[in-house]
Amino acid sequence: MKRAFGATGAEVARIGQGTWDVPERGAGARAARDAVRRGIALGMTHIDTAEMYGAGAVETWLGEVLRGLPREHVFVTSKVLPSHASYRATLAACDRSLQRLRLEYLDAYLLHWPSDEPLEETMRALEALVVAGKVRFIGVSNFDADAMREARSYLRSVPLACNQVLYHMWERGIEHDLVPQARAAGIAIVGYTPFGRRALPPASSPAGAVLADVAAAHGVPPRAVVLAFLTREPHLFAIPKASRRAHVEENASALDLTLSAQEIAAIDAAFPRGAPRMLATL
Ligand SMILES: NC(=O)c1ccc[n+]([C@@H]2O[C@H](COP(=O)([O-])OP(=O)(O)OC[C@H]3O[C@@H](n4cnc5c(N)ncnc54)[C@H](OP(=O)(O)O)[C@@H]3O)[C@@H](O)[C@H]2O)c1
Repeated sequence: MKRAFGATGAEVARIGQGTWDVPERGAGARAARDAVRRGIALGMTHIDTAEMYGAGAVETWLGEVLRGLPREHVFVTSKVLPSHASYRATLAACDRSLQRLRLEYLDAYLLHWPSDEPLEETMRALEALVVAGKVRFIGVSNFDADAMREARSYLRSVPLACNQVLYHMWERGIEHDLVPQARAAGIAIVGYTPFGRRALPPASSPAGAVLADVAAAHGVPPRAVVLAFLTREPHLFAIPKASRRAHVEENASALDLTLSAQEIAAIDAAFPRGAPRMLATL
């Protein structure tokens, strides 16, 4: 259910919960809050957010979701915008996120995507936040293998814990270089948009049939098979976003799902890897 978060020593839920585009107000916000709480109760305690989401409103909403929960029960990640990535602005952005979330510290704090500010400055600021006790672990997001190497080169006292990147069945380019580099360096890869913002192929199609067969063999929904495939290596994590309880419950069924080598090979063949992807140039 939980696994080592890179080389940090922290144990983190393999399947977490994203918060981009959750309804921030009204009945939808209350339903989404209950759904995410249900996910936490089921073990999806790894929660991802960012100052960008709803221009801060999602962090405020998440603060409500987390209210009353033992702090150590959840692993909360937020991200600084590239436009706030100078040394001083990163420190200030982190304080604002903590205030909105009503937390004393973040478990992970990431640069959301490569910035025009000098990367060395941002990495220094992230290290300073760890020293100040406001952040436990630091990372980047949307960094390709070269950019991730550069980010690591600026760190003096704190290791790079993770890189959060796009990873789904139709976008497997990171498997060429980023995933092996992260494996070797003890860096967690947190895959976002695991469902690729599209429907799964129907069970009548060849790829859909593979997912349906594996799902039936394990008694889980096909989306759980997708999540298990995307987290098939020990340093891979996924953060699906679901604001409906039924979706949360489906996703949680992947927490303990281990696929056999044969099942992985069948899924691998059904969803070709494609070419490497230059994430940092997005
Ligand atoms: N670092 C970055 O640059 C970056 C970029 C994008 C996303 N992210 C993070 O990654 C998270 C996930 O990515 P995402 O939100 O883009 O996409 P996603 O998780 O792949 O897909 C979200 C969509 O899938 C639906 N869904 C979830 N579980 C389902 C299920 N079991 N059955 C059917 N539909 C289901 C959700 O519906 P309902 O909401 O209606 O339940 C929602 O419409 C984000 O929320 C965010 O935290 C990070």
